[in-house]
Amino acid sequence: MSEFEPKIVAFVCNWCTYAGADLTGTSRIKYASNVKIVRFPCTGRIDFMLLLKAFAEGADGIIVSGCHPNDCHYTSGNFHARRRWVIFRGLLNFMGIDVNRIQFSWVSAAEGAKWADVVNGTVTAVRELGPYTQYRKAADYLAQQDQSIIDGQEAMIIK
Ligand code: FES
Repeated sequence: MSEFEPKIVAFVCNWCTYAGADLTGTSRIKYASNVKIVRFPCTGRIDFMLLLKAFAEGADGIIVSGCHPNDCHYTSGNFHARRRWVIFRGLLNFMGIDVNRIQFSWVSAAEGAKWADVVNGTVTAVRELGPYTQYRKAADYLAQQDQSIIDGQEAMIIK
């Protein structure tokens, strides 16, 4: 039987982590290919509900990464992201989502090797946790419920 290959989505800022990931490639550092990168201007622009959306669409693990504290190109975007992350962790606990499926890190444009370590570490950790289907199933169920409510309302309007 083949080993489970987790799907990882990385939400990164343009100025530091995206450039760091680019450096990983140009430095020819090998790392797990399981990660799909979504680039934002700044981690402060990342709506954490997108993380839930990624789980609903099939992600098994998530990375959020940006500039180191005091290096944000917009001064304080990464501090806002870090504060939001603390609140979001509480929400994840409440929802029963294992926070170990999400890695929050700082990777600068000069840290290509660190980016490889973050990705490889996340892939290994999520591989041990196994596939994540519970949230996807719950999201599908809620979408069906929403659709049946909409269908019911349309039927009442037509009558
Ligand atoms: Fe990188 Fe703000 S620009 S975290």
